Amino acid sequence: MIKWRIISDEYHNIDNVLKFHRTTMHHKANISVNHIVPVLDNLIETDSINKGYSVNLSNGKKLAEDDSFLKILKSRRTGWGFKKEMSVEQLSDVLQNSFGVNCSRQFGEYLVDLRPYASAGALYSVKPYVYINNVDKELDNRIWKYDAKDNSLIFVADSDIDSINSLTSTTKFRIKGFDKAKIVVFYVANFDLIFKKYGMLAYRLVLLEAGHMCHNLQLVSTKFNYSSVPIGGFYDLDVNKSLKLEKGQICVYMAAVG
Ligand SMILES: Cc1cc2nc3c(=O)[nH]c(=O)nc-3n(C[C@H](O)[C@H](O)[C@H](O)COP(=O)(O)O)c2cc1C
Repeated sequence: MIKWRIISDEYHNIDNVLKFHRTTMHHKANISVNHIVPVLDNLIETDSINKGYSVNLSNGKKLAEDDSFLKILKSRRTGWGFKKEMSVEQLSDVLQNSFGVNCSRQFGEYLVDLRPYASAGALYSVKPYVYINNVDKELDNRIWKYDAKDNSLIFVADSDIDSINSLTSTTKFRIKGFDKAKIVVFYVANFDLIFKKYGMLAYRLVLLEAGHMCHNLQLVSTKFNYSSVPIGGFYDLDVNKSLKLEKGQICVYMAAVG
């Protein structure tokens, strides 16, 4: 007769991923202003692979200089300029083209909505939350959750620019500011959704997915001539409070556009 044995299955214990996340939180010592010459780290990086056998690919076929996609790739840069105004229509252009449902596909008996970025298991477990600033009276000074299915905003909380500036080290210490940004995006992973399917692997998957989303946002912002900044240096506990996040919801990335 087969005897059932209870084993501890840490791979499927969501508390492990939440505990691990806490150990990766932003730390005061990380602030880039603490680096005397930040770019030096880039210049002195040595890659041992460069010293080995290599083949030059410089003769590869290139896109034409005036190719519109190439132009966007070339001009995508992180910038805090935030000089361009944004109407509600332009806000919709940015959000819908970055994150909105743009296709439906049959998976077996189900018709599944798909979006402009790759998603682990097509679960879309990372949700964009958006603080809006200087766009529209009704939308400004509020945090919204973006609904990708019908391109709408769901109210989350009231806020203000000082609170939003206090959430990242770059803005808290006034190295830069969100004051002229039009939107500040928070990428919030919903572990209740993805952990059931992937266990601990879910932690990697949400980081990767947020990266795809943020890159989309930067490319779309570039297309519409907006500056954009991806941001990893934020304070988790303060973000959790501002966004009213619950256990199982984790902000993994941020970005500002304007
Ligand atoms: C994962 C990640 C986190 C980042 N976090 C910050 C940040 O907290 N503050 C900031 O000013 N820039 C941040 N950046 C932007 C980088 O500084 C910028 O991408 C880098 O200087 C290269 O410049 P480029 O984006 O114009 O190519 C981040 C970029 C990435 C990819």
